[in-house]
Amino acid sequence: MKDLKGEFPILSKHPGLVYLDSACTSLKPRKVIDAESSYYNELGACAGRSSHRLGREASNAVESARERVAAFVSAKADELVWTRNTTEALNIVAYGLDYTKRKKVVTSGLEHHAVLLPWMDLHERGIARLELVKSDASGHADEDAWADAIDRETALVVTNSGNNTSGVSQCTKNLARIAHDNGALVCIDGAQGVPHRKADFRRENFDFLCFSAHKMLGPTGIGALVMKKERMAGLQPLIRGGGTVKTVSLEKVVPVRDYTRFEAGVQHYSGMIGFAAACDYLKSYGMENVEAHEKALAVEMLRELEAAGATVYGPKDVPRSALYSFNIKGAKAHDVALMLDKEDIAVRSGFFCAQPAMEAMGAKEGAVRASCYIYNTSEDVKRLGDALKKISALY
Ligand SMILES: Cc1ncc(COP(=O)(O)O)c(C=O)c1O
Repeated sequence: MKDLKGEFPILSKHPGLVYLDSACTSLKPRKVIDAESSYYNELGACAGRSSHRLGREASNAVESARERVAAFVSAKADELVWTRNTTEALNIVAYGLDYTKRKKVVTSGLEHHAVLLPWMDLHERGIARLELVKSDASGHADEDAWADAIDRETALVVTNSGNNTSGVSQCTKNLARIAHDNGALVCIDGAQGVPHRKADFRRENFDFLCFSAHKMLGPTGIGALVMKKERMAGLQPLIRGGGTVKTVSLEKVVPVRDYTRFEAGVQHYSGMIGFAAACDYLKSYGMENVEAHEKALAVEMLRELEAAGATVYGPKDVPRSALYSFNIKGAKAHDVALMLDKEDIAVRSGFFCAQPAMEAMGAKEGAVRASCYIYNTSEDVKRLGDALKKISALY
């Protein structure tokens, strides 16, 4: 496996740094940073609006970016809506769907707040009825649990393809099949899935797929909602404004019918170009290589955590990315994170915006989370293990 550290300016600037916080946000390779700044250096104009040369070039760059990001998840360009992030994409689905015929929305208690909060709000206001699948003592919900909860009253099944607290990768293709067998739609929170293994929107047969560039080597402030074209007309946009209409008179608004209906206002063009560059980078590396690399690191990390006597949360023998939440007995999670920081090891601590999931897994006061990506090495994981052994000995 090629050592990629030299391609990431942050890692060159901080050569001793072990960055294990990629589930929060990933580092960016030089190619992505250059692509993003190329918009400001070379284009600068609005896309999809102005007909002057720079405007046309910006439009072409953005549409090329749309094609490449959509292709990354095996979708077509006209199925992709730009969003700020996964959170916004999920909110567009939550608040845009019509729940008048079917009200029930099935999800799990192990989701990120970006999933739970919008649908809990709709539930509280009586617009939708939220039902949670049952999870076992390790916090895992298997396919049977999903099949029990999904029925012919279900409007939507919404869940993650990769869990940000346990690292578990769900078989979303099977969940989509169960949903469709019951006439329900399926929305996948791909924030932690799309960056780590090949996502195939068409073959897995999702209705909606939400993901963020910043967790997959791309810029912050840009994400995507990929949806089947037949879902677009029935979904209400979250915000309205410039660039979303065919004609407007003071009596009547005639909206456009395609993805632009969801992209009101001037957009984050540099982010889109950077997002596409991140997809190109991952594609050239090969998603099967990303997955294999993380699989190996996950095994090594679990070994190191167990050798340090850490309490590791969530199921262990399941498909996963190289991400673990854990605690050191007797130590506060934030203290452990700060002690690791002193050793130049960056991890996250707390509830990771998934408090019910952490509590279900037994981490009532939160935990420490270490998460890898393509630039991490066995050496990084070993550094974490050695530092944790030292910390463990203090308690
Ligand atoms: C599983 C999961 N879903 C959704 C999100 C929200 O992503 P964003 O903050 O990019 O909108 C995150 C972020 O950590 C996540 O881990």
